[in-house]
Amino acid sequence: MKTILVTGGAGYIGSHTLVELDKAGYQPVVVDNLVNSNIESIRRVEKLIGKKIPFYNLDIRDAEALEKVMEEYEFFACIHFAGLKAVGESVNKPLEYYSNNMGGTFVLIEQLVKHNCKNVIFSSSATVYGVPETIPITEGCPKGMCTNPYGKTKSMLEDVLMDVQKADKEWNIVLLRYFNPIGAHPSGEMGENPNGIPNNLMPYITQVAVGNRECLGVFGNDYDTPDGTGVRDYIHVVDLARGHVAALSAIERKCGLGIYNLGTGRGYSVLDVIKTFEKVNGVAVPYRIMPRRDGDVAECYSNPQKAKNELGWSAEYGLEEMCRDAWNWQKKNPEGYN
Ligand code: NAD
Ligand code: UFG
Repeated sequence: MKTILVTGGAGYIGSHTLVELDKAGYQPVVVDNLVNSNIESIRRVEKLIGKKIPFYNLDIRDAEALEKVMEEYEFFACIHFAGLKAVGESVNKPLEYYSNNMGGTFVLIEQLVKHNCKNVIFSSSATVYGVPETIPITEGCPKGMCTNPYGKTKSMLEDVLMDVQKADKEWNIVLLRYFNPIGAHPSGEMGENPNGIPNNLMPYITQVAVGNRECLGVFGNDYDTPDGTGVRDYIHVVDLARGHVAALSAIERKCGLGIYNLGTGRGYSVLDVIKTFEKVNGVAVPYRIMPRRDGDVAECYSNPQKAKNELGWSAEYGLEEMCRDAWNWQKKNPEGYN
């Protein structure tokens, strides 16, 4: 059984990926400092798969601590989720973002080289396209000017990893550009567990629906989109998790460098998401129109054809399942993992 180092595996996307890795016959080992997650997510994964997951509470910038883990296992590959991800916070605390995301990745790569693991899957983001030049966005679309430090770290780390692979062809590196992951494991055992006021649309909707918050603010209804609200490519987190298993298969085939959009290829507006959520779940989501949010683009959705052709991966779930599973998780866990 191949062993996979999963940094940030206690987080939202990481924890869902652990389940899919287990299903595909891999042994995940998690390192996470729980700066934005809760150990309970690992317990829930263990409950779902009926096995223990080796877990190490450490900051990946701590080379010594990471090295101890590297020495204990022989890793086939690393899936690198660990990082800070709040766009707004990154504008106010740029150094924290550069230190954590860039610094953490440098230490990680050094350790991987030292222990001869040259297979990496990196969590990138549609945010690297900035204001996209063309829609739907293909991987060939130029990377835009990212407007915030978070986006810049993703774009710079992509460049770093591409250079690493260029210098040494033994590396297999897959950059996965996620669109908008939402939803939860269909069991309702695992889901998104944001700290404080959610920044993202779906956790805000579920918190309004469950009664934790009064009303959703819709950020702008005067965009050049069919109903004036922002359009995004929402993708079920379980589909996204499976994308990592598909990327591992590409690595097994020695893919060299691979860059893939992971999205559904369909754009939905904020009002589409609210309406679908209300219809599927039979609950009301009161909202009011607010001013546009700084830094938002009108439309962002993918052309996911490259992932389909080369990885044999495509999203299976639609918006209805995303809304159903997000609500199932929130209803069963009104306070998340806390
Ligand atoms: P998350 O915050 O739930 O998970 C990230 C995990 O990394 C957390 O468990 C956190 O505790 C851990 N972590 C952060 N810094 C660390 C460090 N220095 N050492 C050890 N652990 C550390 O976020 P997520 O939504 O699961 O996202 C996973 C990855 O995907 C991130 O890199 C994120 O930037 C990227 N991404 C997320 C989205 C999204 O909308 N959720 C979109 C595009 C890309
Ligand atoms: N929105 C609202 N009200 C809210 C929250 C969001 O109207 O309370 C709107 C936004 O204006 C946008 C849409 O809902 O039109 C989606 O917003 P999110 O904050 O959920 O997602 P973003 O597209 O802004 O960004 C997310 C992640 C980024 C990641 C990007 C990838 O936050 O980290 O997806 O496409 F890079």
